[in-house]
Formats: sequence, C-alpha cells, structure tokens
Amino acid sequence: MLDKKVKIKAVRDLGAGNHLIVIASPEQARLVRPGQFVMLKCVENTGENPLLRRPFTIFNIHRNARSGKPAGVELLVKEVGVGTRRLVSARPGQTLDCLGPQGHGFQLPSDLPSRVTTACLVAGGVGIAPLLLLAESLLALRVKPILFYGGGTVADLVLREPFERLGIDIITSTEDGSHGERGLVTEPLAQFLRIHPRKDIRLYACGPWGMMRAVHELAVGHDLQCEVSLEARMGCGLGACLGCVVASPAAEGRPYLRVCQDGPVMNSRLVRWDIEPV
Ligand SMILES: Cc1cc2nc3c(=O)[nH]c(=O)nc-3n(C[C@H](O)[C@H](O)[C@H](O)COP(=O)(O)OP(=O)(O)OC[C@H]3O[C@@H](n4cnc5c(N)ncnc54)[C@H](O)[C@@H]3O)c2cc1C
Ligand code: FES
Repeated sequence: MLDKKVKIKAVRDLGAGNHLIVIASPEQARLVRPGQFVMLKCVENTGENPLLRRPFTIFNIHRNARSGKPAGVELLVKEVGVGTRRLVSARPGQTLDCLGPQGHGFQLPSDLPSRVTTACLVAGGVGIAPLLLLAESLLALRVKPILFYGGGTVADLVLREPFERLGIDIITSTEDGSHGERGLVTEPLAQFLRIHPRKDIRLYACGPWGMMRAVHELAVGHDLQCEVSLEARMGCGLGACLGCVVASPAAEGRPYLRVCQDGPVMNSRLVRWDIEPV
C-alpha cells in the first residue's frame, strides 16, 4: 500500500455519467491485484470539499506504449455526487492524493483450474470495474470466463471493447431491452446455470446489492462458490473507522466485516444479505 501524489493523465467521457480516468503512477500500478481499489482525493487542495477520499476499483493497468511496463491505473468513474463530479471534471496534469492499492481482491490460487473450468462474471453497470483484470487472470490460469453484463439501458454497458478484445463470450441484458436480452442480468445467468448443471463453475459478481444478493442465492441453489466485490461508504479505507462494515453470519465468528480490509472481494456466504449497508 502506497500513498502517492499522482497526476491525472486523461479523462475520457464514456456517456451516461461514466468516465475513464487514467492516472500516472507506475509504483502503485506494479502492485495491483484484480479486485483491489484506490482511495482518491477528488480535489487538488487539502481543505476543499469533499474532504474525505473516495474508493474506486482499479479497472485496468495503464501500460507504457513502448516498453509495455505498468505506467498507471485506469478507473471507471460514475458521476453520482460531489466527489465524483469534481473528479470527472479534473484536467490532465492535475495532481491528486492516491492511496493504494487497497483491500483483498479475488482468490486466484494457481490450483484453481483443478476445481473450476468456467467462471461466470456478473456485472451490473459500473460493477464491470473489477472484472477486466479478473478475466485476464482467469484466462492466464486457463479458466474460461463468460461475462454477463447488465444495465438499465444500452448507455450503461460501457467498456465492452476491452472484454471483446479478450475474445470471451459476453451475454448482455438491459432492463429496457435496448441491448441484448430484456430484463435483469441474473435471468440469463439463471438460464445458463440450469442448462449447465455442473460443479466446476464459479460465480463472481459486482453491482447493486440486490443483484449480488440474487447471484449469491443462485450460487447457494446450485451449490457453487461465489465471490462478490462489495461497495460501502468508506471513511478511512484503512480498517480504522469501521464506517464500511457489512454484517456477517454469526456462525462465521465475526458479526461484522470491514469492506475496506476484509474485502472488497468476499465469499458471498460471509455476507448477511438481509442487512444492506447504509
Ligand atoms: C471498494 C469500492 C469500489 C468502488 N469502485 C467504484 C468504481 O470503480 N467506479 C465508481 O464509479 N464508483 C465506485 N465506487 C463507489 C464510489 O466510491 C462512490 O460512488 C463515490 O464515493 C461517491 O462519491 P461522491 O462524493 O461523488 O458522492 P456523495 O456526494 O458522497 O454521495 C452521492 C450518492 O452516492 C452514494 N454513495 C456514495 N458513496 C458510495 C459508496 N461507496 N457506495 C455506494 N454508494 C455510494 C450516496 O449514498 C449518495 O446517494 C466504489 C466503492 C467502493 C466501496
Ligand atoms: S473505511 Fe474505515 S474501516 Fe473501512
């Protein structure tokens, strides 16, 4: 974990409030594992609003065009409030404070292929953010990723091209039917699991709470393992303030888990899905 002053290299508008932000930081980029995040101060000056840093998943490693070496990180940022509004209107060259990479990412042991041959990656909207580095790592392990990508409308399905370049199967769905199947992303997933009643499938999900809960319930119903990348409001991002806790079944020993330290990626069975964090 490093705390660095980093420079914004580029801000690309992807539409529907989504932006791809490239940050120059080779030292931090070299340390990233799939599913980790950075805590970013969204404004240049210490006293400016918002005071607290905001968490953003590392979508991709930005590489030097000539050497191919890690030069920085790419973040997918959806504008939802004061911090993200300031961040997406930042100019290239602007300096920000960036802490990270933080948290526990996806479990990717080298013996994973002995238990898992197919990985269903399930994304809702900006929940796509942790899944590109995951898909690349799974391919390197020779586990086949399939992406189930859903949104309200086609404009929410940003950054499909990097997944298309990997040559993996992508099943899209939108609630208004403007792209792919009409309905929730969990419907094609449920259909896939019905057609393929196998035990060597693992589920990975990131998106709204209700979507991840539905994916967890499918995992339990089919007796499969599932990892979820959780979101919670964060204060410190360091495990100290307890602002980011999620409830966990008491049987697991600890009634609360910190999303910033115990997660953001967790086994879905460690989460109490009946208590949504505020
Ligand atoms: C581990 C982690 C990874 C994340 N990765 C990404 C990412 O890759 N891309 C992205 O766009 N966003 C991501 N988020 C969410 C992002 O941190 C929030 O959208 C951001 O902090 C909002 O800041 P704001 O100042 O713009 O909003 P505020 O003005 O503080 O709040 C505006 C609205 O956003 C909601 N909100 C604020 N923070 C969060 C949060 N942490 N989770 C859910 N809702 C929130 C508030 O309830 C409120 O309704 C991630 C969150 C976590 C915890
Ligand atoms: S954000 Fe402070 S403990 Fe997690």
